[in-house]
Amino acid sequence: MESDTEQFESRKREHLQLALEPAHQAFGLTGLERIRLVHEALPDLNFHELRLDSPCLGRIERTPFYVAGMTAGHADAPRLNRTLAIACAERGWAMGVGSQRRELEGGGGKDLDHWRRLREEVPGLFLIANIGISQLVDAPLERIQALTEEMGAQALAIHLNALQEVLQPEGTPRFKGAIQALRRACAELAVPVVIKETGCGFSGETLRRFHGLRLGAIDVSGLGGTHWGRIEGARARPDSVHAAAAMTFGRWGESTAESVERAREMLPSAEIWASGGVRSGLDAAKLIALGAHRVGYAQPALAAALEGLEALKRWMEVQEYELRVALFCTGSATPAELRSSQKAIRVEA
Ligand SMILES: Cc1cc2nc3c(=O)[nH]c(=O)nc-3n(C[C@H](O)[C@H](O)[C@H](O)COP(=O)(O)O)c2cc1C
Repeated sequence: MESDTEQFESRKREHLQLALEPAHQAFGLTGLERIRLVHEALPDLNFHELRLDSPCLGRIERTPFYVAGMTAGHADAPRLNRTLAIACAERGWAMGVGSQRRELEGGGGKDLDHWRRLREEVPGLFLIANIGISQLVDAPLERIQALTEEMGAQALAIHLNALQEVLQPEGTPRFKGAIQALRRACAELAVPVVIKETGCGFSGETLRRFHGLRLGAIDVSGLGGTHWGRIEGARARPDSVHAAAAMTFGRWGESTAESVERAREMLPSAEIWASGGVRSGLDAAKLIALGAHRVGYAQPALAAALEGLEALKRWMEVQEYELRVALFCTGSATPAELRSSQKAIRVEA
């Protein structure tokens, strides 16, 4: 019989391995396939003068990029997180961490030591703590506040994963009272709150419910990349109802492009973060043109980090360079200029 800790660690390891399989990516569904940026043949710019500086929860960071939160809590996690943290600090990317449910529930002493050591090693890193919405409903706010302080996080991401929780045999699909808990967290926590999906995006109806909340940012994390319905389907017993339902829901979600456009329209003063199927610097540029302030990658950053620090830094450099190329060829001196231009146009698929 596996203990709770063993079961938790093996689930996290399985998630990581399954996320790398192409079958669990919702390819072709970000909505970016139908967006193109208008070419400017005569930009009034010098390429080397372009700047990527972008807003990040009340600060200005060197790039608009972040690594979206990914699972900790298994034996390989400290090494991977260290690789991600060093590269992010060096290149001016923010870094989200994976769900800290275990730490919140008091079983993650080892994890906390790990974050403390990492903080000492990379003090300049913009670090984002992470919990799920059901933990927000259940745990006292003081405990959540302490968690962010103990690891020196600049922000707290609260993730929404309704599809995953409901398809996961051991999931906790308890979301009742979540919006009230979110309102309280936004009002009372000392760090800004980033509300994030995990690959299924936001409908207009959901975004409307964020009206009036003091959110730091909204990370749409839409459909088109890592799909947790597919991953939980692969984990479920093949003859189970969970596995059958996961097949049915394999394309479920709101696309990343549409989620960003809706967020810009419905919450015009919100800071919008875009993740979910971002696979190049050109994807990032399209999302910025559609309204995103920051753009995040999960699965591709994980794949690069598994190859080592140098491979990860090179991959990051490619994303930055591609974004710069898109800025230059649209005649935009900064991501903010691209965002306020009308350079994104919709084409037939
Ligand atoms: C291995 C892995 C683990 C993840 N764990 C978490 C998590 O613990 N908390 C969270 O908010 N999101 C988690 N995510 C979701 C990502 O932050 C992101 O929302 C999603 O993967 C879409 O981005 P992508 O298509 O670039 O992978 C995880 C993603 C991956 C690939």
